[in-house]
This record gives sequence, C-alpha cells and structure tokens, in this order.
Amino acid sequence: AAMEGVILRPLTVLRTPGETGAVVAHRGHSSVAPENTMPAVLSSISSGAEYVEIDIRMSADGVPVVIHDETVDRTTDGSGVVAEMTLAQLRGLDAGAWWSDDFAGARIPTLREVLDVVAGSDIDLIVEYKGTWTRAEVRTTVDLLTAYGLRRSVIAQSFSEKTAANIVRTAPGLRVGLLTHVMDPATIAEAVSIGAHAVNARRVTARGVALAHRAGLGVLAWTPDTEDDWEMLTRMGVDGIITNRPDALREWVRTK
Ligand code: G3P
Ligand code: CA
Repeated sequence: AAMEGVILRPLTVLRTPGETGAVVAHRGHSSVAPENTMPAVLSSISSGAEYVEIDIRMSADGVPVVIHDETVDRTTDGSGVVAEMTLAQLRGLDAGAWWSDDFAGARIPTLREVLDVVAGSDIDLIVEYKGTWTRAEVRTTVDLLTAYGLRRSVIAQSFSEKTAANIVRTAPGLRVGLLTHVMDPATIAEAVSIGAHAVNARRVTARGVALAHRAGLGVLAWTPDTEDDWEMLTRMGVDGIITNRPDALREWVRTK
C-alpha cells in the first residue's frame, strides 16, 4: 500500500508488520448492499478491504446477531427492540428489501454465519459491540471466535468503555478499540487505562494521532468516504480507515 506520498501505515497494533495498511469496509460493503447483511459481508471480501466491520447485538434468547440499531425498524420490514426479540423472530424479518428489491429476502445474520464466511476467506473482521455487554455476554462471543480460530485476528470495538473493558478482561489476545467521536487526551488516557489497543475516532486530528501513537495505541478513522479526507488522514498517519467505499479507497491508495 506504500505508494508515492500515501502510506496507510502497517497496523502493528491491528495487523502484523509487513502487511498492507488497513482498509475497512463499514457495516460490510454498505454502499453496494444492505448494511450488516451477508451480501454486504461477501461483497466486502472482493472489495480489496483487509477488514470488514459489523455491528452486533444479543437476541432475547442469547444469540449474537448482526444489526446496527437498537430496533429492527430502520433496516427490516418489522418493528421492535432487538434485545427483546428471539432469534426466530429476528430471522423471520426481511433485512434487504428496505435497501432494494434485489436484496429482498436477506436475513439478519447471526455472528456465527459471518464467522463461517470470514474464517474461510482472506478478510479479517472488526466486531462492534453495540450497547453495553456484560462479561458473560462477551464470553458467548469470545467462545465463538475461539471455536473458529479467529480470536487473535479479530478486532473488537465499542463506544461503551465498560463493554470495552469487559472484552479486554474476558478475552486476552483479542484486540480492542475504544470508539470515540473526538480524540481528546482524556479518551486516549481512558483507552490506555482499560487496556485497549486502539482508539477509533470520527474526528481525527494530527495531535490526537501523535498522542495515541505515543501511548502505544492504533488509530482507526470512521467513516471518511472522500479522497480529500483520505488524503488528510493518511498524511496524519492513521492506521486504518473504516469506509463505505473500500473498493474506491483501495484503488485510490494503489494509484496515488
Ligand atoms: O466503525 C465505527 C463506526 O462503525 C461507528 O459508527 O454508527 O456506524 O456503528 P456506527
Ligand atoms: Ca459500527
């Protein structure tokens, strides 16, 4: 990925040294398929991204499922709170028709379904834990990652400091990013104190990147989709970019 002037840093924290820098497909390849569905995950594999990011929540009967919002209302043909619905109820919904008729019939994936595909592919996975997860709930997901042999390649992330800390404590070896809107020194200090490996920010500043790197943390930026933003961020030295246009970002890095 190191072309003239533009370097997506090798992710020593997020990828082993020597590999290419990180392009991360946001919610799957969500500019070409409905977010957080299997078509979006599958499309991210051929997009050139090194990672695919998904969001997870727990069903009422304790199964981790892949969906962004607290409710199913925006991204399915149903309504209700994910955490109050059983897997059977969630699987009965259409998670593709809201996007376009071409994707009608797509279901809310289980985490296991995504792991099945990721384990057999070249792409790595970033799992965002939505809401707050107890250690017991985290353990359910970590057991799955371990069963698939993915515990050391997956990155977990959460906006919830409590959840991020629970992941760090429950799953040694699993890398954890603390999500934040702004890279202020307090958030960076918090990430260090909970034992996180990265700080994943919306508003990235050169000063924030320098601070985080000095603290031994990686930095992932979300969700820049324009070349101007990619230019600015790569100059700042971010470790990766979570984008809705992973194919375009990969091409931009290649031809820059
Ligand atoms: O990867 C970071 C980004 O996904 C956080 O925002 O709302 O898309 O989950 P959101
Ligand atoms: Ca997310």
